[in-house]
Amino acid sequence: MTAQKDHPVESRSMIIKKNISLKPLTTFQVEAAARDYVRFDEDGEIIDFLRGDRLKGLRHLVLGGGSNLLFVDDFDGVVLHPAMKGISVAARGPDHVRVRAMAGESWDDLVAFAVAHGWGGIENLSRIPGNVGASVVQNIGAYGVEVGDFVDTVEAVSLMDGRRVVFSGASCGLGYRHSRFKDDGAGRFIITAVVFRLTRQPEYVVRYPGVKTAVDRIGALTLANLRRAVIGIRESKLPDPAVVPNAGSFFKNPVVSGERVAGLRRAFPDLPYYPAGDDRFKLPAGWLIERCGWKGRSLGNAAVHRDHALVLVNPGGATGREIYDLSERIRQSVLDRFGVALHREVVVVP
Ligand code: EPU
Repeated sequence: MTAQKDHPVESRSMIIKKNISLKPLTTFQVEAAARDYVRFDEDGEIIDFLRGDRLKGLRHLVLGGGSNLLFVDDFDGVVLHPAMKGISVAARGPDHVRVRAMAGESWDDLVAFAVAHGWGGIENLSRIPGNVGASVVQNIGAYGVEVGDFVDTVEAVSLMDGRRVVFSGASCGLGYRHSRFKDDGAGRFIITAVVFRLTRQPEYVVRYPGVKTAVDRIGALTLANLRRAVIGIRESKLPDPAVVPNAGSFFKNPVVSGERVAGLRRAFPDLPYYPAGDDRFKLPAGWLIERCGWKGRSLGNAAVHRDHALVLVNPGGATGREIYDLSERIRQSVLDRFGVALHREVVVVP
């Protein structure tokens, strides 16, 4: 079965531009120019482009939905933008269905598609901004679910030699907001499509605080109601990037040992913590940042969101450098006060 979307998948040709503004292509909406920009609407175009050896000696990066990127300066290199769209059913079994989505497909459109068909797994990841390709790079997660649990295979093209490569989900090195594409695979591959293994008998994940209550307020526990509940929670906490430019959580939640938690709780008895397996615990970075007094504060034109201290925002006119400087000040405060190092979730492009 092929494309099931209500809009047809058009075939266009590769778009190459010089010296373009990246502002409309990232959700932080900061001014930054790219020396070269190439948009691909079919994956064959990537192979054609690479055949021309046009990356040789140049910096390059892959841009998805731009929802996790901060340009601190102009980018003197090539921005590769996979914009291939399409969602299709790759295989159906009695219990599972394999859904193949092209990398440039909107992540949330894929979730809506799965929920509309009654296929479970990714509904808690509703309304996460960004595209399908980046969902794996980042191993996006929310409300007790990570996309990695549903990745069957990842199709990519090697930027080294233009060859097609297929990774099994297990070989993608997926961890908390991490994958091999941020590690040994960084800069080496461009993801073209992802096959997800979804279930025909949904197993609802409602253990994250507030999720079950939000569903109960809507009605029965169904995929559609769980999606609606998650969207409601997100809208109540997180700023809409289309209204207030931002990139979601700027830092990851730090993961520390049980001994460390015990020590910290002696000094800060109300510090929340959540089990992360193997005597490891996640500390909410939002709490640490709020306790350092940053919630709602500004530095230059960059600000910390007033409702969620983990989200840095561009209320208008902020430069990438201002947002970066604010993030470094925050990181230093948390280190000074709690002795805990924060690591960025957002990818900063120097
Ligand atoms: N908190 C505060 N003050 C704040 C914000 C949070 O004290 O200003 C504390 C509270 O104790 C709250 C706890 O932090 O109970 C957790 O907050 P929240 O439920 O908003 O989740 P989070 O840990 O801040 C993570 C993900 C989000 C994801 C939510 C829900 C990371 C880095 N972030 O945020 O993902 O939506 O859980 O699962 O893991 C993203 O990656 O961009 C993102 C938004």
